[in-house]
Amino acid sequence: MHKLTTVETVHEEGSWLFTVRDRHGEREEVILVPCDDGVEAWINRCTHEAQRFDTGRGVPMRDGQLICPRHGSLFDSCSGHCDNGEAADTTLPSIDITVHTDGTVFLTDDDASFVHEGGMDDDGGPDSTSHISL
Ligand code: FES
Repeated sequence: MHKLTTVETVHEEGSWLFTVRDRHGEREEVILVPCDDGVEAWINRCTHEAQRFDTGRGVPMRDGQLICPRHGSLFDSCSGHCDNGEAADTTLPSIDITVHTDGTVFLTDDDASFVHEGGMDDDGGPDSTSHISL
């Protein structure tokens, strides 16, 4: 269980990007986005093509929906479901998080271990092995 950030921070900044390592050792980017008074965590990649939602400037959102920057499909920030455009009838893969009563958000997914805050390239590129998080 790794402490990520707080609900307040996600609501203030609009979204919060971090990188995990999955059970196969592959790195994935995950986004926290506001959902009502809480937050949800989704893989930072459109279900239509390999397009990131957050490309380094936060997740584009409107009226509680994530906007795919490539073709404009809208995904519900609470359910991850898309009912429109190129990505219609798909749902974003979710990542398990737990929100403590004080608003702290923890990563609690058995298949994802925390690597660092920010995207995969933020530590020098996908092939970099220089970054060690303690
Ligand atoms: S890549 Fe997202 S809708 Fe096409």
